[in-house]
Amino acid sequence: MCGIVGYVGNRECAPILVDGLRRLEYRGYDSAGLAVHDGQRIHVVRAVGKLRMLEEALVGSPLLGTTGIGHTRWATHGRVSETNAHPHVAGEIAVIHNGIIENHLPLRARLVKAGAKIVSDTDTEIIAHLVDAQCRQGHSLEAAVRLALKEVEGAYAIAVIRQSEPQKVVVAKNASPLVLGLGEGESFCGSDIPAVLPYTRRVIIMEDGQMAVLTSDGIRVTTLDGTPVEPAVKTIDWSPAMAEKSGFKHFMLKEIHEQPRAIEDTLRGRLDRENGDIVPEEIGLSPELATSIERVVLLACGTSHHAAMVGRYYIESLARLPTVVELASEFRNREAVIGPNDLVIAISQSGETLDTLMAAKIAKQRGAKLLALVNVMGSAIARAADAELYTRAGPEIGVASTKCFTAQIAGLLMLAIYLGKRRGTLGKERAEALVEGLAHLPQQMRDVLTGTRQLVLSLARRYMDARDVLFLGRGTSYPIALEGALKLKEISYIHAEGYAAGEMKHGPIALIDPNVPVVVLVPRDEHRDKSMSNLQEAKARGGRILAVATEGDEEARSLSDELVEIPAALSELLPFLLVIPLQLFAYYVADLKGTDVDQPRNLAKTVTVE
Ligand code: AGP
Repeated sequence: MCGIVGYVGNRECAPILVDGLRRLEYRGYDSAGLAVHDGQRIHVVRAVGKLRMLEEALVGSPLLGTTGIGHTRWATHGRVSETNAHPHVAGEIAVIHNGIIENHLPLRARLVKAGAKIVSDTDTEIIAHLVDAQCRQGHSLEAAVRLALKEVEGAYAIAVIRQSEPQKVVVAKNASPLVLGLGEGESFCGSDIPAVLPYTRRVIIMEDGQMAVLTSDGIRVTTLDGTPVEPAVKTIDWSPAMAEKSGFKHFMLKEIHEQPRAIEDTLRGRLDRENGDIVPEEIGLSPELATSIERVVLLACGTSHHAAMVGRYYIESLARLPTVVELASEFRNREAVIGPNDLVIAISQSGETLDTLMAAKIAKQRGAKLLALVNVMGSAIARAADAELYTRAGPEIGVASTKCFTAQIAGLLMLAIYLGKRRGTLGKERAEALVEGLAHLPQQMRDVLTGTRQLVLSLARRYMDARDVLFLGRGTSYPIALEGALKLKEISYIHAEGYAAGEMKHGPIALIDPNVPVVVLVPRDEHRDKSMSNLQEAKARGGRILAVATEGDEEARSLSDELVEIPAALSELLPFLLVIPLQLFAYYVADLKGTDVDQPRNLAKTVTVE
């Protein structure tokens, strides 16, 4: 998830572009760059690190001109470096891109074979060469972009400028966001409304399969095949602060709603739907390693530890590999037995959690193969690993992790399918069903978001004064119960505990009374009937029962005081759906209580202390 901006008009564009990038820094901040047309030539300045590094570079090399594009990067392909920073240049073309080009490898091979000099590891540079090749055929910039994008598969929001066509920016959009701003004698584009809001409130929200030509006279929108489009022009009445959260009150609520997109991006280019498999190149583990390892060790903290617990069910069930889950902070407090036949997976949103980093290094020192499942390219855990599998959730600003959690689970499920296929423990039909289920998962998550948020808000109002809350679940619902409890604890400061539903009768059930709301996860999976018994045990002791069940479960409706329904799904996909109402519940309770939802007391987004 990167940020792109563009400008064409009658003002010096560099300050406008930098200002726009600053308002988009929440979308990524590995590196940044500008390409500005001075009327004769295009000049490019790029810098690794946060935007201020680019601003420092611009002091030494000011860019003058009234047409330009700018980019702030969140690396998905190609490590964090100046070479991989955008804009990317080929011939007289400069391009910036937010998204993932799925077929970048075959396109790269074809371009190199044709003599193209490709200098970066990115998928974006491929676009620059494709457009430049069309320009060399005599096409205009607009026609060249149109022809180039016919060869491209995947997600993109791009802005392109050409040396021989000053005062023009061509943009195109598919699956990644792009908005256009209409000014007086000037036109703007950006990944999100904050980038253009200081200059105009009149915006066009571009749709998939559209492109546009921006000049100082205005904006012309067409479909990719050139059919003119009369777009709706919206007037935005948000404040800049609201705009950065896309109109949501907090980053956490925005990120809860970003989960379908985060899953789509994490899965993009990695599902082999034709063969019911995972694309090997994307996983970072060789088939030889997949078949030679004898155990998997998952290392993580906090929410990532809960993702690891879900992953254990996947890997044991689909790959039939012994799998242990370790709290990274405890792993280091004993003489763990780790060896060369172990695959250790360090799971971390930030990739910087010191407990996880130190545990991962110990495991590697003892001979294990180390895979990093992280959200930040080039982070310390990624650098320490033998291989990386990146979630592509984009920067997560809210301290309470939400979209990275579900993206981590998606990564672990893909890994389990990949391992199971290579170890011969996962049948063709079950693999195909899982891959297809993953492909449809983002829409199911959207349905749960829209279908439950009003009800969950009413439940939050009803239970916001609870002093203790219990969360119960079995199987993969057990780590989801733990995650629901953690979310409530860390942002509303209400004491909450997650328990394995079967464990309640061994003591914790003594806690239940009418003042203790009990959230019971009873989706229609292989554990439902036993979980229903646990629900009845809690109810019989006077607990207030908030059940989350599969839609149409009349028994759950009759036995619970409150019922939240989720759609039917494969059991492996239920965690993605169950966690959403729990995230929303924690958020709404905290917001109603007036706590600092995005930055709760005592907490930090990245814990780099032991
Ligand atoms: C989750 O909401 C918390 N912020 C915290 O438990 C977090 O998951 C933990 O500190 C691990 O962080 P990481 O994923 O960046 O390693």
